[in-house]
This record gives sequence, structure tokens and C-alpha cells, in this order.
Amino acid sequence: MMKKNSAIGVMDSGVGGLTTVKELQKLLPKENLIYFGDNKNVPYGNKSEEEIIALTRRMIEFLISQDVKVIAVACNTISTIIDEISKDYDIKIIKVIDPVVDNIKNTLKKDKVGLIATNFTVNSGYYDKMLGNIRVFGKGSAELAAIVDSGKIDREEVKRIIKLHVDKIIEAGHVDTIILGCTHYPILKDLFQECYPDINFINPAFQQAEAIKDYLKEKELINEVEDKYFKIFTSGDKDKYDVIMEMLDLEGPKEIIQYKD
Ligand code: DGL
Repeated sequence: MMKKNSAIGVMDSGVGGLTTVKELQKLLPKENLIYFGDNKNVPYGNKSEEEIIALTRRMIEFLISQDVKVIAVACNTISTIIDEISKDYDIKIIKVIDPVVDNIKNTLKKDKVGLIATNFTVNSGYYDKMLGNIRVFGKGSAELAAIVDSGKIDREEVKRIIKLHVDKIIEAGHVDTIILGCTHYPILKDLFQECYPDINFINPAFQQAEAIKDYLKEKELINEVEDKYFKIFTSGDKDKYDVIMEMLDLEGPKEIIQYKD
């Protein structure tokens, strides 16, 4: 039996899922949050499907052990494979991709869109399949998520990498809208925008948070108690969370806990 005051569980390979936390804090300010960042194993986007599935099972099972009421997969890479395993768990799992796809289908003026994501996400063809008749011009980055996750962001170097990838997307598709299809990337949104002021960069975390709110409303599981907590479990370095939380202007107080297998 799910309880209103149980936390929303949020998981990602690293710090990227904090972009979903940011939208959840805006939309559902009274919710307790339990975050799992598998920073020890980031980046997932360069791993095999078998490896990602094994690591994902471990995260889901940990969050279930924390008695969460819903799980947000705040990772595009995991979202592309989660259907393979979500049937093995009773808990509701909400992906980061599907809600934004619905929104794009209803709002996009052109019949084409750009996508920058991990190699795994681009190669999976998941966005292409979900977007149906909308043509996707995708480009994977092997390095961007790991750079963000390191917490050491050299703005000029990051802009150079962004341009390397985004120029290719624009050359190929002449798109005016590009999905930031890795949750680590909206942390760099100002740099994307600085490089391409006329492009509309989409952050899928917003629609994911809306989908979570709709689900909690439907199940009458919205928390009403004021005294909330925000716990972050990480398999990696605890210190980088302060840097990223500051970049995202996230709300505290929070407790950062070392996760050990
Ligand atoms: N944040 C993840 C995503 O949205 C992936 C980063 C990674 O681990 O490669 O795809």
C-alpha cells in the first residue's frame, strides 16, 4: 500500500537526474525525494544493454527498499531499455522520454527535430520510433555526460564539444528545435543557448515531472505534509553534488549518503 508521505524515487547514472529533481521541486514542492546517482558507473551511454540492465535493476531494487511510491527514470539511456524489465516490478516507473514525445507531437511546427544524446540513446532509435512521422536528426556524444558528471566544467571546452555535435545536426537536418536527450545536458543549457541563440532546446525533465504529478494526482498520492526531506544516495563522489546543485539552483536542505554495494 503506497503512502502519500513516501518519497518519489529518482534515478540516473549520475548527476543528470537532478534536472528532473529541479522540475519536481517546482511542480510538487511538498514531496519527499530520494535520489540515486550511480556516479561510480557513469557514463551508462557507452555501455552494453546487458550492463545497463544489470545496473538499472540494482537501482530499482534499492529505491523499492526505500519504500518510494513511484520511480522516475531520469535517464534517457535507461528509459530506452526499461520496458524490458519494468514488468518484473510492482512499482510505477515513469520514463523521461515518453512524456516529452507526446508534447513534441502536439506542439512541433515542422516535421523534423534534432536530438543530442548519448551514443546508446541515439543508436537505440527509441526517439525515432516514438516520434513516428517526425524525422529525427540525432547525434551521440561519447564524452559530454562524463564531463558534466565530473563536476569540472571548462566552459570554453564544453562549448567546443557542443558545437562539434550540434553543427552536424543542423547541417544534416536544418532543424530549429533540438531535444537535449540526455539528462546531464540541461545542466549546460545556457552554454547550448549561447552557442545557438536561435535554436529551441527542449529539456524533457519538465514533461516528466508533469507526468509524475498527473500520476500522483490520479492515485491520490500527493504529499500534504510540510516537513519534507531530500536524500541523495551516490555510489561515487559526494562532493560534486554541491557544485551541480548550485549550477541548477536546487533547493536544499539535502542529505548526501554514500552508497556501497
Ligand atoms: N543522464 C543519462 C541520460 O539521460 C546518461 C548519461 C550517461 O550515463 O551516459 O542518458
